[in-house]
Amino acid sequence: MVVSVIGGTGPQGLGIALRLAIEGVEVIVGSRKEEKALEVVAEAKEKYSDYDLSKMCGMANEDAAKEGDILILTVPLAAQKPTVEGIKEFCTDKIVLDATVPLETAIGGKPFRFIDLMEGSAAERTASILDGTGAKVICAFCNISNSHLSNIPEDIDCDCLIAGDDKEAKETAAELINKIPGVRTIDTGILEKSRIIEKITPLLIGLNIKYRSHYGGLRITGIPKLDE
Ligand SMILES: NC(=O)c1ccc[n+]([C@@H]2O[C@H](COP(=O)([O-])OP(=O)(O)OC[C@H]3O[C@@H](n4cnc5c(N)ncnc54)[C@H](OP(=O)(O)O)[C@@H]3O)[C@@H](O)[C@H]2O)c1
Repeated sequence: MVVSVIGGTGPQGLGIALRLAIEGVEVIVGSRKEEKALEVVAEAKEKYSDYDLSKMCGMANEDAAKEGDILILTVPLAAQKPTVEGIKEFCTDKIVLDATVPLETAIGGKPFRFIDLMEGSAAERTASILDGTGAKVICAFCNISNSHLSNIPEDIDCDCLIAGDDKEAKETAAELINKIPGVRTIDTGILEKSRIIEKITPLLIGLNIKYRSHYGGLRITGIPKLDE
């Protein structure tokens, strides 16, 4: 299984790519420019030379989308539409995890404020762009910060809330995400639940600012794991 992170050169995408690659997953880091992807991957391999990152490589987003079995979208809201449209032809029947959060920063505002989107959520926006391709869009990684992801080798003390309309796709996604040490994936239900999941992120950002932390995260208590 090959996982491609579209927009994987930013802190969120690279953090996810590194965490998965360390766990032995074959990962492609995507960028608008192939050279940038190659550069970022080379730097990461140097920085984390204690780990076997031989299964991690860099490509242009389109090539990454073509080669990947599972795609993870990690671009800012403003880049979401053109990026998804650019890879649409390679998304047929694939699982697409979307980490996009509609923060007010997209229109010059604050990172602890949320923008309401016409489609309901960023993940639903991705699903509407990919309509007709058979892609199974899942909201994921919205509530796990890049600070946690890059805090290697520490475990990530967070749950990963996911939402999507395809049960089997969510099970596959959970299996992948749960490879990251410390992370527990929780299936919250249909894709529409992404409206709630995405709204938690600006709340966590606000808490980080208020309490001068980088590690605000989320743990849901009192429910069993997906596979129990
Ligand atoms: N950072 C976090 O802690 C965090 C937590 C939860 C969710 N998220 C969400 O994850 C996504 C990525 O976050 P991030 O902090 O990694 O974002 P970022 O650094 O701003 O962007 C990620 C990558 O997207 C590409 N990109 C940037 N502007 C673009 C544009 N105008 N058009 C096309 N591609 C563009 C860039 O890759 P290339 O230049 O290589 O193409 C960039 O490296 C966001 O939607 C964010 O809301 C982030």
